[in-house]
This record gives sequence, structure tokens and C-alpha cells, in this order.
Amino acid sequence: AFVNYRMWLCYQITLKYHNDRSGSLAGEVVLPCHFSIIPASPTTTTHLRIKWVKLDGPDEKVVLVAQGGVVKVGQGFLSRVSVPSRPLSVGDASLMMVKLRASDAGLYRCEVMHGMEDTQDTVSLSVTGVVFHYRANSSRYTLDFPAAVEACRSIDASIATPEQLEAAFEDGFDQCDAGWLADQSVRYPITVPRPGCAGNLLSRPGVRTYGLRDPAETYDVYCYVDKLNGDVFYPPSLKDKVTWQQANEECEKHDAVLASPGQLFAAWRAGLNRCDYSWLSDGSARYPITVPLPQCGGGLLGVRTFYKYENQTGYPDRSERYGAFCYKGKMGTQHTYTH
Ligand SMILES: *[C@@H]1O[C@H](CO)[C@@H](O)[C@H](O)[C@H]1NC(C)=O
Ligand SMILES: *[C@@H]1O[C@H](CO)[C@@H](O)[C@H](O)[C@H]1NC(C)=O
Repeated sequence: AFVNYRMWLCYQITLKYHNDRSGSLAGEVVLPCHFSIIPASPTTTTHLRIKWVKLDGPDEKVVLVAQGGVVKVGQGFLSRVSVPSRPLSVGDASLMMVKLRASDAGLYRCEVMHGMEDTQDTVSLSVTGVVFHYRANSSRYTLDFPAAVEACRSIDASIATPEQLEAAFEDGFDQCDAGWLADQSVRYPITVPRPGCAGNLLSRPGVRTYGLRDPAETYDVYCYVDKLNGDVFYPPSLKDKVTWQQANEECEKHDAVLASPGQLFAAWRAGLNRCDYSWLSDGSARYPITVPLPQCGGGLLGVRTFYKYENQTGYPDRSERYGAFCYKGKMGTQHTYTH
């Protein structure tokens, strides 16, 4: 042992520098951590310890510790993280993460310890994508399965998968309305169980499911949108509230178009905050809140939707006056000119 100890003293571990990583909700990502030990180690993996930690402000959360074939995983990461089974032979301590949640975003530190030597590096992870509930302008539960798929598509989103809804639920998504998902099942996420929202799970939190349904049955829908390739903005020239038609014209002045709900949800996820019900392309009026304020959505975060009736149905009349959210793609103009 003494001999080994002497040997360890002259090992040097170096980590390769890595760029930051990005993943999509419910998707997977590899947080890289590659190391080399010089001189090549004659010792076994027992002496190698890999630790991944998530840095949450001043707090540190253990994600995973692996040593000598024993792997311990921190709360919140169970069944979702792993490292290569033979890290020493390949110099790879990278962290594989699956079923990504928005709350996984942040700074991670990889620590490689070998005998007396240790070294560490950090990598930052961002997670894009948001799942949202969508109700047609007529009433609650009016979309059959083909119409649900089309509804999401028409607002620049796609129908969400069960995996995406599950990840959104883990992040705290709560909505007591049954909606279609991509596998033709109907589900809804409940984090705070309450009467009328029990479903098949009764008083337990979780995603309720009605199972696979006949495509002719009608429900609401859950849509998914990933990151935006453009900007959503409130036109700076807009001083007064306007009708839906005027909102369209206002956006045209900025060489943009009225934003769709999909674009607004993606912009909200990226940080857009404005406490003004504003027109969108589908004739709905909504506003995004990322900074909690009691007078805006009761201190809750999210996108608020204006409904005509107390039972949360009906879009406003297009002659009513609201603000406007415009969308402009990254590549500049929205129009293709064919003269
Ligand atoms: C309601 O939605 C349908 C289909 O998207 C559309 O054709 C119709 O104009 C909308 N009506 C209103 C009042 O927004
Ligand atoms: C919601 O309320 C409106 C107005 O009171 C009513 O016409 C409509 O039928 C209600 N819809 C549902 C789904 O209860």
C-alpha cells in the first residue's frame, strides 16, 4: 500500500475543456467529462471515484457518486443518470441524463478523484421546450384526435408525447382538463390532487390517464413547442389597446406577424414577461409571466389565457381591445415576395 501511495503522488489528472450543453424536455443529453491520468494507472477502478454535483446557488445537490462499481444516485435523479461502467479504461466520466426536466437546467460539476489526486470541471446545461394545454375557441372538449393534431400544428407547436407531459408534470405542471397526446391517449397532469381531478390516481399526484381512446372522441389537447428561431415582442409603437385586425396591422409595420400561442409559450419559457392581455394569431388573448407579481396572475408563473366565460371557455370578440404580441423570424422578413 505504501508503494501505491508513493505512486499516486505523482499522478496527474487533467480534464478536457467542454462547451455547455443543451437538451429538450423529456429528451436526453450527455454532460461531458473526459480525463487522462499520467502515468497510465496500474491500479484498479476501486481507487477511482467519480462525483457529479448540481450547483443550485449556494447549495450543492449530489447527482451521482460512482466508485468501484458501486453507483449512488441523488434524489430527483433516480433512474435518470448514469456514467460509463468502465470509466478508467476510457478516461470517460461523462454523465448521461435522460427524461430531462426544465428544472434540470443549471451548472454541474464533475469531480474525478484518483488516490490522492483530484480534479474538477463544470458544465452548464440548458433545457428547452414547454408543454401547454390548448382549448379551441368554441368550447371545452371539442377536438377529435385529427383536429387536436391540427390545432397544435396551426399554432406552431406539435401534439405533446406522454413523455413530454410526464416531464412537465415533474416540473410542477397542473391542469385539470383531459387532453389528447401524440400516442392517441388522453391524460392530464395533477400535482395538487383535489375533488373533480382524481382520475385513475385518486388522491395521489401524477399524470391521470384515460388510456388510448377512439379518435372520434373529443377533448382538449396538450401541445409541445421547443425553442424559438426568432423573437416575440410587444410593438414599442403600440400605445393604446387595439382590435385583433389592428393588432395584425401593427405587427406588419414591424415587418412581423401576430405571434401564435406556440411562439408565445416558447418565448415565455425563454423569459418573456409582460402583464398585458395581448392578441395572438388564433384570436386568443394571453400574457406571459416569468416574474411573480400578486397583481399579475396571482403571483403564479406561466402564460395566462383570457376566457370569455367563467367556466374557462370562449375567446374574446375580435372587436375587443387588447395589446399585441408580434413574431419575427431570425432570418428577417416573414414575407416571400414573388413579383
Ligand atoms: C375559431 O376557430 C376556427 C378554427 O380555427 C376559425 O375558423 C374561426 O375563425 C375562429 N373564430 C373566432 C371567433 O376566433
Ligand atoms: C360555459 O359557459 C357558457 C356561458 O355561460 C355556456 O354557454 C357554455 O355552455 C358553458 N360551457 C361549458 C363547457 O360548460
